[in-house]
Amino acid sequence: MKRIGVLTSGGDSPGMNAAVRAVVRKAIFHDMEVFGIYNGYQGLMEGNIKKMELGSVGDIIQRGGTILYSARSEEFKTEQGQEKAIEQLNKFGIEGLIVIGGDGSFRGAEKLTKKGYPCIGVPGTIDNDIPGTDYTIGFDTALNTIIDAIDKIRDTATSHERTYVVEVMGRNAGDLALWAGLADGAESILIPERPDDFEDVINKLKRGQARGKKHSIIILAEGVGNGMEYGQRIKDATDMDTRVTVLGHIQRGGSPSGFDRVLASRLGARAVDLLIEGKAGRMVGIQQNKLVDHDIIEILTHPHEIDLNMYKLSNELSI
Ligand code: F6P
Repeated sequence: MKRIGVLTSGGDSPGMNAAVRAVVRKAIFHDMEVFGIYNGYQGLMEGNIKKMELGSVGDIIQRGGTILYSARSEEFKTEQGQEKAIEQLNKFGIEGLIVIGGDGSFRGAEKLTKKGYPCIGVPGTIDNDIPGTDYTIGFDTALNTIIDAIDKIRDTATSHERTYVVEVMGRNAGDLALWAGLADGAESILIPERPDDFEDVINKLKRGQARGKKHSIIILAEGVGNGMEYGQRIKDATDMDTRVTVLGHIQRGGSPSGFDRVLASRLGARAVDLLIEGKAGRMVGIQQNKLVDHDIIEILTHPHEIDLNMYKLSNELSI
C-alpha cells in the first residue's frame, strides 16, 4: 500500500489532532503518501482532499478540535453517497483509509471496506462508549474539563450552601459522569446503566444537610434525562436552594491531556501498521495497556461495558 487517506468524523474530541499527526508521520516514515480528507465523509464525497506532508501536522499535537474538521453526513449513509466517495478515492489513487471517530463513523468505514476499500477505525470520542477499547481518544481530557468545572462550582456551592445538579455529556454512556463523580466526590451519580433511585438521592441530600454539609453535587449523565427537570424535582422534594449547570460543549474542547496525546499517537500509528499488514475492516483499541484490534462491525454488536464496581465504590464513599 502506497497511498492512504485519513479523516475525522462525528463529534470531535481532544486528541484527534495527535492521532492525525501519528497517522501522517507513521505513513511517511514507511515511505507512503498520505492524503488528508477534510470535513469527514461529506468532504470525501465532495473531493475535499489534500496531500499531507511532515509539516502539515507540525504544531498540532497540543491542539484540541481537528485540523481536518468534522461532519455528520446523512448523504454518505446512502448507496449513492458511498459511490461518490469511492469515485473520489479512485481519483486520488487512495488505497486505504483511516477513520478517526465514533461508532457512526465506523459503520461508514465498514461500508467502504465491503466495497473493496480497506478501512481502519481509530476510536475518537469523549463518550468512551466504544466496545473493544478501555479508553477512547478525548475521554480523559473531557473528564479533566468536567473535574475543573465542578471544582469551581463547588466553591460557589459552598459559599451559598447550595445543591448543584451538573449535567455532563456522554450520549447513552455514563462513563464521563461516573468517573467525574468519583473524582469529585459527588453525593450522587446518575447514569443510564443504572436505574435512577430518586428516593435514595433525596435521602442522601437530607442526611448531608442534617450533618451540616455546606453543599451537595449531583452528577447527571445526559443519557439519563434533562438536568433542568431533575433540578426542579430536587427543589420540589427538598426545598433546598438548588442550581443546575449544563456543561455542554466545553467538554469537547481544549488541549488534550498527556494521556490522550499518548493514546492517540499509539492508536494512530497502529492503524497505519494494520493497513501495511494488509488488514481491513478493523478497529484499533487499547485493552489493559496493550494495543489490540477487532472486527469493526462485530465489536459494535457487543454492549458497551461500564465498570459498575466504580459506581458501587462511589456510593460507599459518599454515604
Ligand atoms: O458523541 C460526542 C457528543 O459530544 C455526545 O457526548 C453528545 O451527546 C453529542 O456528541 C452532541 O452532539 P452535537 O455536537 O451534534 O450537539
